[in-house]
Amino acid sequence: MRFLRKALVASAFAVTAIVMGTSAYAEDVKIGFVVKQPEEPWFQDEWKFADQAAKEKGFTLVKIGAEDGEKLMSAIDNLGAQGVQGFVVCTPDVKLGPGIVAKAAANNLKLMTVDDRLVGADGKPLEDVPHMGISATKIGEAVGQAIVDEMKARGWNADEVGAIRVSYDQLPTAVDRVEGAISVLKNNGFKTSSIFDAPQAKTDTEAALNAATVVLNAHPDIKKWVAFGLNDEAALGAVRASESVGIPAANMIGVGIGGADSAINEFKKPQPTGFVGSVIISPKRHGYETSLNMYSWVADDKEPEKLILTSGSLAKRDDYQKVRKDLGLE
Ligand code: GLA
Repeated sequence: MRFLRKALVASAFAVTAIVMGTSAYAEDVKIGFVVKQPEEPWFQDEWKFADQAAKEKGFTLVKIGAEDGEKLMSAIDNLGAQGVQGFVVCTPDVKLGPGIVAKAAANNLKLMTVDDRLVGADGKPLEDVPHMGISATKIGEAVGQAIVDEMKARGWNADEVGAIRVSYDQLPTAVDRVEGAISVLKNNGFKTSSIFDAPQAKTDTEAALNAATVVLNAHPDIKKWVAFGLNDEAALGAVRASESVGIPAANMIGVGIGGADSAINEFKKPQPTGFVGSVIISPKRHGYETSLNMYSWVADDKEPEKLILTSGSLAKRDDYQKVRKDLGLE
């Protein structure tokens, strides 16, 4: 009897120790989440879902905005100094790839990327760094298809329409997205000569507006326009540019990628604008799932998959709420 009691007490201790052990460890886990454009709704949503993962698992999330390479490098040192064990990053410049890998290693930090995949000196992706991004070409094709469908609904002929390719060609995912859209436009009668490049200096609305304005001013003879780019901000910038040169909404078709507040606020406007749709992608997968994967890597030594590509669904003014709900975003 005494033996049994002793054994029971001992095993109860063991269980308590294990339970305390894991929870104490979860509290010790600190994960960084660094993004290139903290003011952009997409990145705010990523952070929101990363916070949700932190709350569920009990780890600490350190969020840092790093708009340029210098800020990113000091952010990584900062994470190291705070005792963070690993971080997820959307870098302001993918060409910093090898530098980021070295900086992370020097600080003894596990590294995963989200959205924008690091490249090496040869321009090829750094395949050893686990990455979650969107299936860029496919999503670009969905943008192109949405534009073509809207043109058909409006009875437009490709011959009379100009296309604005809001571009950010230093970022491979941006190239894949716009080229996906262009392939569909070309299959539906667009000539290369009516597709105009509008290179943006940054991936925000203002930069897209500036870039698209140059194209519109150069072609005052074209009355009907379509526009696309790597995200909602790119398409919105082109739509704002069309408004500023007096093109009515009925003559403009912009389709974005993202589906966060930038797009939603546009859909909520009482009058439809030239921004007709957005392929909604998942900040939940990109924020929640990447953070959980990093947590499992730190806490359980479970390495994440090297490459995860997520999908998107087209949404318009009249159905965006339903699409968001179906994607678990509301
Ligand atoms: C890039 C863009 C963001 C967003 C993400 C999605 O980082 O700059 O706006 O589209 O990709 O992966």
